[in-house]
Amino acid sequence: MKIKLVETQPIDPREFDLPEKFSPKNIEDIAEIFQTPMTGHYNWDYSDADTRIKKLYELGKELNWDGSIDLDWSQGIGRDEFPVKAEMLARLEGPLSMLDEKDRLEYMRHDQAWALSQFLHGEQGALLVASQLVSCAPTYQAKLYAASQTFDEARHVEVFARYLQRIHGLEYPCNKNLKALLDKTLTDPRWDLKFIGMQIVIEGLALAAFQTTKETSNCPLLRQLVHYVIRDEARHVTFGINYLTEFLQTLTEEELEDRAQFAYEACVVMRNRILNTELPAKWFGISEEEILETVMNNETQDIFNNLLFNRVMPNLKKIGLLTDKVLPLYEKLGLLGFADADSDFEVDWAVMTKPLESSKEIDKQSEQELKVSQKIMEEATASLAN
Ligand SMILES: [Fe+2]
Ligand SMILES: [Fe+2]
Repeated sequence: MKIKLVETQPIDPREFDLPEKFSPKNIEDIAEIFQTPMTGHYNWDYSDADTRIKKLYELGKELNWDGSIDLDWSQGIGRDEFPVKAEMLARLEGPLSMLDEKDRLEYMRHDQAWALSQFLHGEQGALLVASQLVSCAPTYQAKLYAASQTFDEARHVEVFARYLQRIHGLEYPCNKNLKALLDKTLTDPRWDLKFIGMQIVIEGLALAAFQTTKETSNCPLLRQLVHYVIRDEARHVTFGINYLTEFLQTLTEEELEDRAQFAYEACVVMRNRILNTELPAKWFGISEEEILETVMNNETQDIFNNLLFNRVMPNLKKIGLLTDKVLPLYEKLGLLGFADADSDFEVDWAVMTKPLESSKEIDKQSEQELKVSQKIMEEATASLAN
C-alpha cells in the first residue's frame, strides 16, 4: 500500500487509458489531511418510534441499488459521441459554436468530465460528512439514518469515479471554491452546521444539477446513473429538513443567525463561484476573469443559476434560516421568489417508495422533463424581455 500525503489537492486533470487495468501495485493513494474537532454522542435509548426518519431509514435499506449490477455499463457513449442531446447542441452559441466538429466534441468531453468531477468530489465530501454525522447526531434514529446515507454516498462516489474513468477517461481536480466549502463543512465543530451545509445547500443544489444532467445527457448509462443518485439524494434532503426543523428551534437567536449567515454564504459560493473557467480560458485564449464577467452578466445564465435554487430556498425557509437579516441578501441575488414554494418537509411518499425505474422508463422521463424545463426557461426569459 502506498499513501502519498499532500498539502493541497493535485492541480492537473488525470487521464485514464481504456480499458483501465489497475493492479494494486500501481495504485498510489494521494491523501490530504483535515482536522476536525468533533463532539460525538453515544445514545443509550434504543427504543424506536414510528417517525419520518425511521421511514426514510427503512426506505434507504429497501431501495439500495448496486452500480455493478443495476447499471448497464454497456450503454455508455463512446468518446466519438457528443455527451449532450442533439437539441442541446443546436442551442450552442459563442466561441464553442465556431469550433469544427472534432474540436467541439473534444471540448465537450472535457467540459462534461469537469462537471462530473465536481459531482464526484462533492460526493466524497458527502461521504465524509455523513460518516461524521453517525458519531455527532445525538439521537438513535438519526445515527442509523446517517449510516445508511454513508453507504449511499459511498456508492455515489463509486459510480461517478467509474463513469469518469471508463467513459471519458478523464478526471478533473476539485474546484477551489467547492473545496473551500467542503473544508468548512468538514472541519466545523458544530454538527448542525455540517448538516445545513451538506444536506440542505450542497445536496439541494446537487439535486438540481443532477436533474439537468438527466435531462440533457446523450448517454443512457449516465441518465440511469444520475436518476438512481437523485432518488437517494431526495431522501437525504428530506432527512436533513425533518431533523433540522426541530433542532434549530432549540438554538438561541444569535446561534440561529450564525447558521443563517453560513447558509447564505454557502449559497453564494454554490451559485457564483463553482464555474469552469479554466477550460474555456485554455481553449479560447480568454482570461478567466473575463469569462467570469461574461457569465455573471448573462441574463439567461442568471435565470438558469437561480432555477437551481428552487428547492433550496423553500427548505431554508422551512428550517427557519431565512431570517430578517439575510432576507435582503437573498433578494439581491434574485432568489426570494422561490422561497414560498413547497419544501421537502412533506414528501410524496408514493414517489419516494416507487421501485427503481428501468433504463427505458428513465429515458422517457428524461425527454418529458427536458421539455418542461425548456418551457420554464423560455417563459422566464420571455418575462425578462417584457
Ligand atoms: Fe450523494
Ligand atoms: Fe447525499
